[in-house]
Amino acid sequence: MTHTPPVDEAVPYRLPQTPADRTAVPPQTLTCVISSQLRPDDRQALLDLFDRSSPQTRHQRFHHGLSVFPQRYLDDIVSGRQLALVARDTCHPDSYGKVFGLASAAPTGNGEAEFAVWVDDAWQGRGLGTLLVRSILQRLAQAGTAAAIGFMQPDNVAIRRLVRKVAPESSFRTEDDMIVVRIPLAGPHAWQR
Ligand SMILES: CC(C)(COP(=O)(O)OP(=O)(O)OC[C@H]1O[C@@H](n2cnc3c(N)ncnc32)[C@H](O)[C@@H]1OP(=O)(O)O)[C@@H](O)C(=O)NCCC(=O)NCCS
Repeated sequence: MTHTPPVDEAVPYRLPQTPADRTAVPPQTLTCVISSQLRPDDRQALLDLFDRSSPQTRHQRFHHGLSVFPQRYLDDIVSGRQLALVARDTCHPDSYGKVFGLASAAPTGNGEAEFAVWVDDAWQGRGLGTLLVRSILQRLAQAGTAAAIGFMQPDNVAIRRLVRKVAPESSFRTEDDMIVVRIPLAGPHAWQR
């Protein structure tokens, strides 16, 4: 079977292994793809990502304990009304096309955009969130966006570490029990990472 995935950036990436894999074969470096070209079947892939996500991940991503994927957000992503990047598995026949990460961004006025990122629980802590955030910030900067804004739960250590690493020039403030990060993307030190 021949697959021709829409490839924006092929990312060498070590996929998690089962205990059986660990004893049977040496770790393999496989390839996932960060792509801005969403396909019709990504709607179901994103619903599956939501179903696989733990209550904590859903709460950290959506700031509520949601039991269903927000329909309007899903429509906006799949239709291209929001800038969206997905990370997909393109090398395992069993899970080919599976979406295990999403970054998205929507304009908020004043040349700014609100961004968010979400990684499958099983793939967290392996560098994928960093790749997705870097990619979406680069795309926003290329599109002339002045700043990216993100909303984070105060106890979300992972996203705070990620943002400080990817964009050390970020500023933080507290609003309604949330931490709001602002990442400047334009100006004399234009965002180039
Ligand atoms: C936040 C999130 C996107 C990070 O993605 P990820 O792929 O796990 O992140 P990375 O592997 O690139 O790691 C980024 C940093 O977070 C740290 N980190 C990752 N998981 C962590 C955890 N559970 N606890 C503490 N730190 C963690 C990493 O160590 C790394 O920091 P370092 O470089 O200083 O070591 C992911 O955890 C997630 O989807 N969470 C739920 C949704 C969410 O919180 N979205 C953000 C708000 S919109």
